[in-house]
Amino acid sequence: MQAKSPKESFTTSTHIVLPNDTNVLGNLMGGRLLHWMDITAAIAANRHCRRVVVTASVNHVSFNRPIALGDTVTVEARISRAFTTSMEVYMEVFVEGKTTGEKEKCNDAAYVFVAVDQVGKPIEVPPVLPETHKEKELFDSALRRKQLGLLLAGKIKPGEAPELKELFAGK
Ligand SMILES: CC(C)(COP(=O)(O)OP(=O)(O)OC[C@H]1O[C@@H](n2cnc3c(N)ncnc32)[C@H](O)[C@@H]1OP(=O)(O)O)[C@@H](O)C(=O)NCCC(=O)NCCS
Repeated sequence: MQAKSPKESFTTSTHIVLPNDTNVLGNLMGGRLLHWMDITAAIAANRHCRRVVVTASVNHVSFNRPIALGDTVTVEARISRAFTTSMEVYMEVFVEGKTTGEKEKCNDAAYVFVAVDQVGKPIEVPPVLPETHKEKELFDSALRRKQLGLLLAGKIKPGEAPELKELFAGK
């Protein structure tokens, strides 16, 4: 399968925070943001493999600052690395000031999607060919995140996660 650049899957979605999206403090609910991110990531994953994709896991999401009613929120997604049937989608979330127009990064996240056939069986996806320094860094670190995600999900044992050896050895 021919490798694809992360630019080929690059996807953005822009949203305005409406009253129905907020919590009792008038800030964006975390669940709504996760939903926007899931949809944006699914489109990016489909652009990479042109197959039906399903969310396998949602990793490393932290909400670093509140997002207020009326703010404009942009989610940017691209595939950082593909394995055999799974893809890591790396996302960054930005808020645009209502009056200043300044873009501020609020959080980033890594979701894992799997390409499936008509009966939901995982199928192979094209590899990723990183080009820029940032793309290469995300590509390299994706293996560590994959092993950590599988370990936390109880799908592999520590011995099957060589990338995490140093972490467990406390180095
Ligand atoms: C995701 C799913 C297709 C994986 O199917 P499976 O039978 O477990 O398949 P496998 O064990 O062969 O794993 C397939 C790939 O998914 C990856 N994977 C499976 N579970 C994972 C998890 N929890 N986190 C990260 N990756 C995972 C595997 O590492 C493998 O990747 P690779 O082929 O690139 O090496 C299946 O679990 C599923 O359909 N889950 C429900 C998806 C869904 O409905 N999402 C919406 C949530 S409401």
